Amino acid sequence: MSRIPRHLIDEVRDRTDLAEVVQRFVALTRRGSSYVGLCPFHQEKTPSFHVVPHKHLFHCFGCQTGGDVFKFLGLMEGLSFVEAVKELAGPAGVTIEERELTADERRQLRRRATIYDVLEEVTRFYESVLWTRPEGAPGRQFMEERGLDQETSREARLGYAPGGWTTLLDHMHGQGFPEQLVVEVGLARQRAQASGHYDFLRERIIFPIRDERGRVIAFGGRIVTGDGPKYLNTPESTVYQKSKVLYGLDLARPAIQRVDRALVVEGYMDVLSLRQAGFPESIATCGTALTTEHMRRIRHLTRDVVALFDSDEAGAQAAERSLPLFLDAGIQAWRLDLGGAKDPDDLVREGGPEAMERALANRAPLLEWLVQRRLETHGTHAGSQSQLIETLLPLLAGLSPVMVSGVAATLKVNEAALLQRLQHHVRRGPDGPPPPPRDGWQPSREMVHLSWLLVHRYEDVAGLVARADPDLFDPHPEVRGMLARLVAGEPAAAILPELQDDGIARTLSAVVAREKLYEPDEAVLATCHILHGLGRPRREATLAQLTRQAEEARRDGDLGRVRATLAQRAALVTLQGALQSALVHEHVAEFMHLMTGDPGEE
Ligand code: UTP
Ligand code: MN
Repeated sequence: MSRIPRHLIDEVRDRTDLAEVVQRFVALTRRGSSYVGLCPFHQEKTPSFHVVPHKHLFHCFGCQTGGDVFKFLGLMEGLSFVEAVKELAGPAGVTIEERELTADERRQLRRRATIYDVLEEVTRFYESVLWTRPEGAPGRQFMEERGLDQETSREARLGYAPGGWTTLLDHMHGQGFPEQLVVEVGLARQRAQASGHYDFLRERIIFPIRDERGRVIAFGGRIVTGDGPKYLNTPESTVYQKSKVLYGLDLARPAIQRVDRALVVEGYMDVLSLRQAGFPESIATCGTALTTEHMRRIRHLTRDVVALFDSDEAGAQAAERSLPLFLDAGIQAWRLDLGGAKDPDDLVREGGPEAMERALANRAPLLEWLVQRRLETHGTHAGSQSQLIETLLPLLAGLSPVMVSGVAATLKVNEAALLQRLQHHVRRGPDGPPPPPRDGWQPSREMVHLSWLLVHRYEDVAGLVARADPDLFDPHPEVRGMLARLVAGEPAAAILPELQDDGIARTLSAVVAREKLYEPDEAVLATCHILHGLGRPRREATLAQLTRQAEEARRDGDLGRVRATLAQRAALVTLQGALQSALVHEHVAEFMHLMTGDPGEE
């Protein structure tokens, strides 16, 4: 599955305190040997998110998300499984041997490490120019004019790119970095007429863009003098994908969690200005529209987002386009009226934090703002009203009745009528008939209980299950494999990441997280009952078949075969009676002997 050997993955998992990792993101309450909290993967008011440290697994009974610490960290930080293993290996004291990698993968890894090194050195260089060199004067002057204090600027690691055509390249050369790496991160360009390269960013204020872990991954450069585009940004690279990054999130994360709200703005300056004004929960996209990837990163921190789009038509359109993303992510989105201000930075520079507080107090649900805006463009006579509702239906489809009720009020239409149209729309589906029900694997009660017993009462039941005919079990090969590994004593956490089928994986993590099902003294008998239940359909089918065969033999006049078939049938009926009786009298050894045909240990 991965290029890291399985035993190392298991070792990292075993040595990592799952509860500690989860608690970096979620407040947990101890409950017996496990913990519960509010699920970070869906919105909920009562906790259904369970963490079972001694089993190394978590599971949410609300949204069915579950898995091990790697899955958890992967979802939280947008890491792949392998990246999550690597991230936790160090603290766990496990060395992941790169020898296991192919030459190509190794090159890729080394390159990534070096890109971070280059970006860090560049950041330090631009910082030192801004704060300590005469060439940094225009930058310092800009900060002053914009009212950014040193603390804010230093925390954001702002810098200044000096003029001259190769100042950065010369510095990096002096530090021993190959020119090619500076080119690769987009900070040097090929000369048009001559050979060699020149600095991409010159005489600009530098905004380092960091990932969620605080590593610099790209730069935005704002012009201070002369002409040219207001901002130049370094291009996407192996470590920087615009659609995934939120500027300021590394610093804003604790604040977003604390106040349970995020302010999403359009500009780097807006983020810094708002943070300085006492709104540290501010983040921005990097000159792109909001994406589902952005939503994913926000929604595990908060479900309350105030979107501060610019006050112009472009800002309004961006707000409209973002609404379905917010709705899909289950995020309550708000729109602010900035009054006459061009952007949030403008607002707080003119009116101070109070102006921002006032705007926040008057925020409107983004959805209602959109309905209002459409109402203004569609007019209010009956025909256009109906048309307007038609265009809104796709947006309303996933909403709670309360929100629909709000929309009905805004539109001044009858709420019941709106709900009815909505139901009709949902039934019809947005494009044609509704999708067929998913016919994926469905867990049976028996498989769930048997897996639970294997996970939680292993010592008592594994021997019994091992003796049972594997044909009794769910025919899905992955379920069979999973049971075999559980019977062999493998921890669920080691099995889970290797399951391909989501439904099966969800079932297993739910089984691990479920604390109470059978008391220790019930486990053995419960297992017998389950094995009995699993065998029943087959015994009944055989009975029916024997009855049919006896009928046929009688029709053929083959009395010998009639007698033999009926004898077989009678034996099966007797066996069923005996199994039942053994269960009722709790004769486990007898039951197992009857089930398997082998005498067992006794
Ligand atoms: P703004 O023009 O609103 O810039 O662009 P700003 O951040 O408010 O800066 P100030 O206040 O004028 O100093 C918003 C964002 O759009 C991207 C940048 O990410 C910027 O922060 N942008 C803007 C570009 O990438 N290139 C541009 O030329 C302009
Ligand atoms: Mn601005």
